[in-house]
Amino acid sequence: MASKKLIALIAGDGIGPEVVAQATRVLEHYRDVRGFPLDLWALDLGAERYLRDGTTYPPEVHERIAHEVSAVLLGALGDPRVPGMQHARDILFGLRFNLDLYANIRPIRALGDDLVPLKGRRASDVDLVVFRENTEGIYVGMGGQFKRGTRDEVAINEDVNTRKGVERLIVAGFEYARARGKRRVAMADKSNAMRHAHELWYRVFHEVAEGYPGIEARHLYVDALCLLLVQDPSQFDVIVTCNLFGDIVTDLGAALQGGLGMAASANVHPPVARCCGAEHAGTPVGMFEPVHGSAPPLAGKDLANPLASVLTVGMMLSHLGWPDEEARLEKLVARAIAEKKCTRDVGGSLGTRQVGDWIVGELAHDLG
Ligand code: NAD
Ligand code: IPM
Ligand code: MN
Repeated sequence: MASKKLIALIAGDGIGPEVVAQATRVLEHYRDVRGFPLDLWALDLGAERYLRDGTTYPPEVHERIAHEVSAVLLGALGDPRVPGMQHARDILFGLRFNLDLYANIRPIRALGDDLVPLKGRRASDVDLVVFRENTEGIYVGMGGQFKRGTRDEVAINEDVNTRKGVERLIVAGFEYARARGKRRVAMADKSNAMRHAHELWYRVFHEVAEGYPGIEARHLYVDALCLLLVQDPSQFDVIVTCNLFGDIVTDLGAALQGGLGMAASANVHPPVARCCGAEHAGTPVGMFEPVHGSAPPLAGKDLANPLASVLTVGMMLSHLGWPDEEARLEKLVARAIAEKKCTRDVGGSLGTRQVGDWIVGELAHDLG
């Protein structure tokens, strides 16, 4: 029997607990029915805990995640009672930054023709993956406010881009394309305006691309990328970009695949062999989360679509060494859409829990 893999569950806020409950049932199915060597560890972290005792992301929890856990499943963080988002940043960025999960992999894949909102486009036109840099950029929190609250106020957030950070993300995107036989990698920056930070992206992209002669490397400004994604998403296979642009572009991408209820993501540290002269052995732990947030207006109403979280479990199982299960879950989700066993946002009439019932019921019928 393979050694057990410990999965940490952080349901979080808003619809997070509702969608993670259904995703957890999928993991329990794999553990209890299929005999996968999984242990689940539910963590009490999020806005409720923060409001109760001030805890955000304790160092001892981080230590255990870093050394004992194989994967983290996160629902969503963000609660109107914590307007400063202190807990959300500590937990989300604590995981992404402190585990050095430099690649946020966000597939933009439509699992049914009816999910695609573009005139004349089908599901087969929407099949790409965004590699979002996940540990640098504008997200590092460097900066400050001066003369706050006065008419002379100054507010600064620094945009940090390192050679190592940019190169490893771009290499990871090309490696992913090569491993999957994808022919095209596009990089989106704003080097026409951000002439220091994004000239680095521009230069490194072309340097890295030389090592992948069979792959078409295309540079785009991010504003043009947004235009082209809506006009014709079929021209893209892999997109590499910085932290902020990756965040924005993947919400746009979610719209192309049926909405945020369908968009999954993985935060990982791919083992890029050599990059900037340094070895990156790769850390085994990954953090997996749907792209959506806590959607406060939907919370507690059994309306949230849990399929993004089910697809996210698929990405997790693939990361843990079971890629066939990602394919199985993706097929099942496509069937949920086709047979309208889904929530209203994607054309069905079921509640969050009923979708989970259907998913685990079908998994139990498909033990071949
Ligand atoms: P959101 O993603 O929560 O919701 C945006 C829209 O998408 C809403 O109209 C919502 O109804 C819809 N939607 C989202 N998830 C859905 C689902 N599973 N099923 C059906 N519809 C769904 O974005 P927001 O409203 O901008 O943010 C709400 C809070 O979540 C904020 O505090 C934000 O900071 C936070 N947030 C957290 C994460 C995260 O934890 N990773 C991600 C994004 C936003
Ligand atoms: C996401 C979210 C987060 C981000 C927020 C909650 C800070 O939008 O995961 O897409 O911008 O990374
Ligand atoms: Mn986002």
